[in-house]
Amino acid sequence: MAKVKFGLLLCSVLGMAVFSAPPLQKKAQPQSLAAYRNNSCVMCHADLTEPLRISSHFFEWLDSKHQRKAVGCEKCHGGDPQSYNVQQAHRGVLRPDFPQSRLHPENQPETCKSCHQEIVNGFVKSEHNLKLQGSGVGPSCTTCHHHMATAVIYWPPQTAALCARCHQDDQNRASQYPLVPNEAADVIAAFTRADEVIEWSQFLLSEGKKRRLSLKAEEAEIKALNERLKDAKLRWHEFDLKLSRQRADEVFTRATKVKDALAKRGL
Ligand code: HEC
Ligand code: HEC
Ligand code: HEC
Ligand code: HEC
Ligand code: HEC
Repeated sequence: MAKVKFGLLLCSVLGMAVFSAPPLQKKAQPQSLAAYRNNSCVMCHADLTEPLRISSHFFEWLDSKHQRKAVGCEKCHGGDPQSYNVQQAHRGVLRPDFPQSRLHPENQPETCKSCHQEIVNGFVKSEHNLKLQGSGVGPSCTTCHHHMATAVIYWPPQTAALCARCHQDDQNRASQYPLVPNEAADVIAAFTRADEVIEWSQFLLSEGKKRRLSLKAEEAEIKALNERLKDAKLRWHEFDLKLSRQRADEVFTRATKVKDALAKRGL
């Protein structure tokens, strides 16, 4: 009896603690689907609970940048987003393993190009695309980005692991370039430090402006370097690792000079 009472007491104390505690910080929740009210793909798929394989893709989309930027299913899959009739809605929607599907690996660059033109222009020049279109052994967009591009990788060891999947697999012809994973990890690290030193300089510039210092030359240099780094990142999808690295390091060196010059002026 005493034990039960104690248990009840404990429950109610814990209960109070739980209810009076401040809400835990949560991961940003997806907004309501109001923006997609007239999109039949989204509305119908939101309610599909089975099979898991289909249902899970809706949730990947829900948590993606594409969802937040109003890119509905039909923008990639095709079909008719106004029809609630399954057959009609799915007209033109083919499973990605069908060669005619807009999302078959060989067709992805073309499909993604409508919005990612510069990246795709770089990608189609690469050895990867040549091998993808020729024999299907090169990676396509979703090999590296998965279904909803929830897999953009900015952590060097993860980049190395991604490239190593083929470049250090003896069964894969890509293994003739076993240094690629390390070189690629270094490129990503070089992008990051260049990004950071530009951001640092921009902070110092804004402090300098508050003090009404004349910083026109420094401002112009940082602006130019920002553009150059963007260009270096576009080279990434050509997988010209040497050039990407060279450009990123050049940006880093020049931005560091600006940062040091600003620091010398007491910023
Ligand atoms: C009225 C409900 C409904 C609408 C509207 C709808 N779907 Fe579906 N969709 C389904 C169901 C149910 C499945 C499960 C597979 C099946 O039986 O066709 C499915 C399957 C799919 C699949 C997987 C196909 C496969 O076989 O692997 C894709 C991709 C897909 N839908 C995309 C879309 C797109 C894009 C739209 C809008 C243009 C859309 N759906 C509209 C109900 C719907
Ligand atoms: C940015 C482009 C893009 C958008 C937007 C998109 N998908 Fe996909 N989807 C793909 C690609 C590419 C694949 C194939 C690669 C994969 O499965 O990883 C795919 C695969 C799928 C599959 C698996 C099909 C199969 O047979 O294996 C389903 C189901 C699916 N998507 C549903 C949806 C639904 C539902 C939406 C919207 C709520 C959506 N997708 C939005 C690009 C997209
Ligand atoms: C209708 C336009 C559209 C299409 C088609 C499209 N995307 Fe996107 N994608 C976007 C927009 C908009 C963003 C967000 C860009 C930003 O915020 O800078 C984005 C972002 C991305 C990102 C970065 C995600 C992140 O979290 O940073 C990747 C990777 C990506 N898309 C891959 C793809 C791939 C692969 C395809 C083709 C299967 C595709 N996209 C098709 C519009 C599109
Ligand atoms: C071999 C792997 C690989 C392939 C193939 C690949 N990407 Fe990427 N992608 C990456 C990595 C790693 C990054 C992050 C590095 C960066 O650019 O900063 C990235 C970044 C991106 C971004 C985000 C850029 C930004 O500035 O936020 C987009 C969009 C994108 N890729 C689209 C695509 C599209 C479209 C394709 C197919 C034409 C593709 N990618 C093919 C590895 C790949
Ligand atoms: C799905 C397998 C696959 C993945 C994943 C992959 N590659 Fe490749 N890669 C290949 C194939 C296949 C070739 C062409 C090999 C040949 O010439 O026969 C290639 C060639 C290359 C080349 C050209 C080598 C040269 O000097 O001509 C570079 C650079 C490259 N990959 C970089 C990368 C990077 C960076 C990553 C990771 C972000 C990556 N690859 C991930 C399959 C892959």
